[in-house]
This record gives sequence, C-alpha cells and structure tokens, in this order.
Amino acid sequence: MLEDSLDLMKLKELLQTSLEDKLDNKLLDKLPSGYSVIGDIAIFRHISQELSDYKSQIGEIVIYNDPQVNVVVEQLSTNTIYRKPQIYHIAGEKRTITKHKEYDAIFHIDVAKITLSPGNKGERGFLINTVQDNEILVDMFACIGNLSLPLVISNPSIKCYGIEINDEAFKFLIKNIKENQVVDRYFPIHGDNRNTTPNSIATRVLMGYFGIDKQQFLRAEDAIKGEGWIHYHELVERDNIKKSKKKIQDLLKSANSEIKLDDTRIVKKYSPRLSHLCFDLHVIK
Ligand SMILES: C[S@@+](CC[C@H](N)C(=O)[O-])C[C@H]1O[C@@H](n2cnc3c(N)ncnc32)[C@H](O)[C@@H]1O
Repeated sequence: MLEDSLDLMKLKELLQTSLEDKLDNKLLDKLPSGYSVIGDIAIFRHISQELSDYKSQIGEIVIYNDPQVNVVVEQLSTNTIYRKPQIYHIAGEKRTITKHKEYDAIFHIDVAKITLSPGNKGERGFLINTVQDNEILVDMFACIGNLSLPLVISNPSIKCYGIEINDEAFKFLIKNIKENQVVDRYFPIHGDNRNTTPNSIATRVLMGYFGIDKQQFLRAEDAIKGEGWIHYHELVERDNIKKSKKKIQDLLKSANSEIKLDDTRIVKKYSPRLSHLCFDLHVIK
C-alpha cells in the first residue's frame, strides 16, 4: 500500500510531523494510522470527527507522498444487502471510479457504489492455489467478480457462473469479464441467488457474504454435482468461535446430503471484536 519513503516512515508519524504546527497533542494522537488503496484511490475509514477541519490536508499529504494515489476519500459505513459504501471526497480528483489490479485480474470499480476488500486478498490467493483443473464454480455473491474472477483468470480450464443481484455491481461484473477476456468461461447471472442458482453443475460454490440464510445454503447444496465444496463466509465473535461452529453444524443437519465441516479459516480481522471466517464444507451426494 505505502511505497518507498512512506514505508519507512509510517503514515501516522508522517501526518504528525506534517501537521505538528497546526494540531495540539490530543489531535495529533487522533490522526489516522492507515488507509487502503483500490486502484489509485486511497480510502480512509472513520477519521475522527475532531479532525474534520484537517481532512483535506491529510488527503493532500497522502497524495504528495504516495505515488499510486490520485484521489483520497473517506468511507463511513456500508449498508443494505448490497453493501453500498458511504463515500466522502477528501482530496484530489473528484471521481470514485478506478481500475484496480490484483492477481492478474483487472477490476473496474466505483468505490462509491461497491466494496472490494483488500483484506480478502489472502482468501483469493488461497482459492487460486486450491482449485483444480477443469473445475466448475458457482459464485453466489459475485459482486464485480471479487473472489471468482482472479480464479478464472488463473486457470484457463476453469469455468464460473457468477450471480449478482445489484444492477450497478452486475454492470461492472460484465465489464470486468470483457476486460479480462473470459467471456467464454465466466457466465454472469443477474438476479437473486435464491431463485437463479443453477442446479447440479458445480465442483465448488463460493458464498462470500455475511448473513447467508438457510434457503441460500440449500441452493448451494443443490448447485453441487456429485461431490464438491462450499466455501461459507461468516462474521464471528473472536472469543466465541465455538458458537459459530455450532450454528454451522446445525445448518448442516438441515442438508439433504452428507456435508462435513472440513476446515475453518480466518480471512481477516474485521473489527476489534469480530473476525471474518470461511468454513470449508465438503459435500458428498
Ligand atoms: C460483500 S459483496 C461480496 C463480494 C465477494 N463475494 C467477496 O467475498 O469479496 C456481496 C455481494 O452479494 C450481492 N448479493 C447480496 N444478496 C444477494 C442475493 N440474494 N443474490 C445475489 N447476489 C446477492 C450483493 O449485491 C454484493 O454485491
């Protein structure tokens, strides 16, 4: 994220040094210590209210020091099932559309409309190393191809059906499939996965969403042909992972086939209390 001199001098220290003549010690201590970068847009999360008058200066300092950044925004929260972020411009060009590259995949994205978590990069890498030749994937929460597009690009024998309910995300999904030249292997489906998930087709189903319901889980089970994997994502209280495993075990009891919890992986730390976990479920029909 941060390059060259900024790597050596951490963001908070840089901001403190740059703003020490303007802020008192209390405010210097509240300066942010990190941001994520999507394409050429730096995204801060929740800069302290008390620093409101200094946000544009913070943004200008980042643009001056981080060669990959041309735009700086603040993201306050995401809401609704579509995970639409609330984005406020802080500094640089007034745009929210950019082109992001990860694992050879190019993502066109509007950061004001769609979330793409850099924290999920490890999970994308795990999937690339795990999926075998000739697999058929169903990505039930495709968004703009976040999890499944890098997989399809990484192996020319893999095919994917990607389902997305949100019009805006679906438009970018189509654009990204074309941009990455996988139109013959990535099949986008626009709609609610509760009634658009294809049956008996997949070796692997990706469920990258928090708050999956039972109907969606059963659709994932139906999507598997013979034997395969469901990667089920969940936000979990860090000190109560047992409770989440129990919830998964109860869900497995409602399945029609034999499904075993094979592995549990931490995708990322989500908040001081919550972790983003992925449960690998092995299905045998
Ligand atoms: C948080 S994004 C996750 C993207 C990606 N799976 C990942 O893990 O990085 C969830 C996406 O699922 C979509 N979504 C939510 N409910 C859906 C449903 N019932 N059917 C299809 N897509 C849905 C949202 O519009 C959003 O684009």
